[in-house]
Amino acid sequence: MEFISLKNVIKQYDDGQVTALNRLNLTIEKGSFISIIGPSGSGKSTLLNMLGALDSPDAGEIVIDGINLAQEKDLSDFRRDKIGFIFQLHNLLPNLTVEENVEIPLIATKLPEKEKKERALKYIEAVGLLDKKDTKPNKLSGGQRQRVAIARALVNNPSIILADEPTGSLDSQTGQMVLDILKNMHEEYNVTLIIVTHDNDVAKLAERTIMIKDGQIIEDKQN
Ligand SMILES: Nc1ncnc2c1ncn2[C@@H]1O[C@H](COP(=O)(O)OP(=O)(O)OP(=O)(O)O)[C@@H](O)[C@H]1O
Ligand SMILES: [Mg+2]
Repeated sequence: MEFISLKNVIKQYDDGQVTALNRLNLTIEKGSFISIIGPSGSGKSTLLNMLGALDSPDAGEIVIDGINLAQEKDLSDFRRDKIGFIFQLHNLLPNLTVEENVEIPLIATKLPEKEKKERALKYIEAVGLLDKKDTKPNKLSGGQRQRVAIARALVNNPSIILADEPTGSLDSQTGQMVLDILKNMHEEYNVTLIIVTHDNDVAKLAERTIMIKDGQIIEDKQN
């Protein structure tokens, strides 16, 4: 089933001097696991931002799970209910503890406080950081921060996980742990998993790999 569809999507920056996405077309099936590769500056993060409705295209159409993003007035509900975003720079809030950071996506939900806490702790445990739950991000290593960012992305039980270089700053063991968590979400809960990576071994774990260059898809293959 066609779950995500992008048609002729254009995204420019700097008053049109930079074309980050250049008439990009892409369809993604529900529950699939896709990796996105390509040189630095080719448009990978820009594409992920479009898929997560964090930014809007200058032209073209994006439909996700039946929702035409351009026609929605308020995309915050869409993001909160459907998307788990793991950023390239993990941008945790420095004045909040690990537990509080992980609870951020739940703030606007109607869940009881007790349930928010239980959910946050479940994912903090899953990434192996229960002993750090009351610690602030500046006391954590880069890999630990990345794992907090992953717990935060999973805590709202998203149907789509968008991960921008989730293993980029990690040693191989921690990277493997992160990949195992993400793959498990994909396999067990049929989450649609889209990972941007520079690592070919990580890219090959996906069912399908898309290569982007100059804002266009130049290769699209099943692994
Ligand atoms: N906020 C912005 N303002 C201006 N230009 C931008 C902005 N964000 C991205 N760009 C430009 O758009 C192009 C695509 O950037 P993008 O971040 O999508 O690349 P990327 O493939 O994720 O690269 P990397 O692998 O280095 O993360 C680049 O030329 C970049 O300089
Ligand atoms: Mg990027």
